[in-house]
Amino acid sequence: MGAEKLKSRVDFVQKWVVEDPKEKYVWWPSEEMKRRAWVSDPSIYERAAKDPVAFWGKLAAEGLEWFKKWDTTYVENPPYFKWFVGGKLNICYNAVDRHLKAGKGDKVAIIWVPEPIEESPRKITYKELHDQVNRFANVLKSLGVKRGDRVGIYLPLIPEVQIAMLACARIGAVHSVVFSAFSSDSLRVRLEDAGAKVLVTADGYYRRGKLVDLKASADEGVKGTSVEKVVVVKRAGNEVNMVEGRDRWWHELMEKAEPSCEPEVMDAEDMLYLLYTSGTTGRPKGVIHTTGGYATQVYWTTKWVFDLHDDDLFWCTSDIGWVTGHSYACYGPLLNGISMLIYEGSPDYPTPDRWWEIIEQHKVTVFYTAPTAIRMFVGLGEALPKKHNLSSLRLLGTVGEPIDMEAWLWYFNNIGGGRCPITDTWWQTETGGTLIMSLPGVGPFMPTVAGRSFPGTRHEVMDEDGSPTPVGYLVQLSPFGPGMLRGLYKADDKYRETYWSRYRNQFYFTGDGARRASHGCIRVTGRVDDVMKVAGHRLSTAELEDAMNRHAAVSESAVIPKPHPIKGETPVAYVILKKGVAPSDELAKELVAHIGKVVGPIAKPEQVFIVEELPKTRSGKIMRRILKALLTNDPIGDTSTLFNPESVESLKKKVGYTGPG
Ligand code: PRX
Repeated sequence: MGAEKLKSRVDFVQKWVVEDPKEKYVWWPSEEMKRRAWVSDPSIYERAAKDPVAFWGKLAAEGLEWFKKWDTTYVENPPYFKWFVGGKLNICYNAVDRHLKAGKGDKVAIIWVPEPIEESPRKITYKELHDQVNRFANVLKSLGVKRGDRVGIYLPLIPEVQIAMLACARIGAVHSVVFSAFSSDSLRVRLEDAGAKVLVTADGYYRRGKLVDLKASADEGVKGTSVEKVVVVKRAGNEVNMVEGRDRWWHELMEKAEPSCEPEVMDAEDMLYLLYTSGTTGRPKGVIHTTGGYATQVYWTTKWVFDLHDDDLFWCTSDIGWVTGHSYACYGPLLNGISMLIYEGSPDYPTPDRWWEIIEQHKVTVFYTAPTAIRMFVGLGEALPKKHNLSSLRLLGTVGEPIDMEAWLWYFNNIGGGRCPITDTWWQTETGGTLIMSLPGVGPFMPTVAGRSFPGTRHEVMDEDGSPTPVGYLVQLSPFGPGMLRGLYKADDKYRETYWSRYRNQFYFTGDGARRASHGCIRVTGRVDDVMKVAGHRLSTAELEDAMNRHAAVSESAVIPKPHPIKGETPVAYVILKKGVAPSDELAKELVAHIGKVVGPIAKPEQVFIVEELPKTRSGKIMRRILKALLTNDPIGDTSTLFNPESVESLKKKVGYTGPG
């Protein structure tokens, strides 16, 4: 579609700016959007910047109910900082009880849509949520879980996952949710590191119509860990092996549980959850989030960024296994007392328009998803969304990776009907809540550009030395957002090294590259470290190499992200076999399957090249730049520093390199 035609279809366009070619589209909110929005006055940015600490203090007081007000709003001793020191609250009380007190008990908190179309959606009111959460909090207590203990949660996207998380928060236990499509090995590593006492899981679930035997993975995953009890939700009804003395059915425990459990009085800086994410090493890191600051940031970002009001139905498509699920498919919407939808299954099952059907059927008003999903739908064509009435939508969001121009425009036109602003939200597992975006009542909305720092936070694009630059690294400046991580679990050195060493504790290094765009906005261009985003999922090359090297036939490996039209990036592995092992296509296939088993299906390499040698420097470091250029057919560049420059020629043949050499 031509730019002019597109423009004419957009009723809230007020300004048309031509910047560099990629930024020639800039939209601003319509008058109606501004009228409705919680924030429409751009001066909020300047007002917040004058005294960000006081700004956040005001938000914390207004947004949450505290058992005791804090003594000091912010204390900083880089690389550590604390928010709302001495304040007491309970996030579960704020997400549930508070709405009952306000007379909103009958309001729907969660609409759950199961994948099988024969099953009916389930609606859970705030009153019912309160009952379930209280009961499960008592269940956890009866299983010996105490304040500060860690509880593993390995569940599909069913309401029990939110109930379990909130129940942990209610009694002051720390939850550690593990993505249900992660393998038993991935589960074990996380349970071990967290020292979890209890695991909450399910018998199975449906994915694209197929039954996934989750309990079998859970059984494998708890082996050798500190998990003493396993609670099993009956979801799919498949046969499972219940271990005597260890495993209990959720429904049986809930039936007998006391219906009331006093919320624990938590300190603002008490740990709320651990969430493991991929970094630059083989082992995932446990990102620590605490209570008061996190609650404040997710409350306000949910309210302002998604502009949620009492009549909205918010759908964040993220699985609960990721931070997006934690903040915007659990805590954020529930803290705001709004109705949210969650969907168990695959976007294109049983028909490729399943998502659009759900939006139409339930009249979703605000929709938040990942660019990778949009790119998949671009490929499926415009006819699918056209079959559905999507007029309930008024605001769209994206997260997880940079969104390209084509996907943005497709989303804008075909899903938003040229009517709905798109807020492109940048953030990370570490930041707890979204930090860079455009506010719907303020704008601007520009394809490929995330936006401005959320009021009360500051980001800068910097060079290696910490000077502002138009193109460089994305950093966060003090005061650090209240929802930011407070450390890495049992890995303090890693915390300092990963985020703080580059700028000597002065700034938080995000790991992303960025460039300054017009209107004070920031365009995030993607990771500059060895972290990949595969279909929006975060994986590290080191983690996959570690898994690959554990295969008996493998001597050494290098995993490289390769650009992919739908997934954004996809892993490709170069593997050197152990002496005496014969290369074969079967073995290459087996190595792909091995990664699927050890890490999870999302991590499967697209290709495995069995090679004789990897290009290395004299100090033995693999030259990843060259391995990447071989995949993208880019110039190979200087090979003079290589110890084995001849390796490049044979690799070129192997991968079918057609680049300029
Ligand atoms: O590279 C950035 C990318 O996702 C990374 C964080 O991944 P994760 O911890 O899994 O959290 C994803 C959901 C919050 C970032 O370092 N990223 C996230 N959002 C955007 C993005 N890149 C560009 N634009 C975004 N809106």
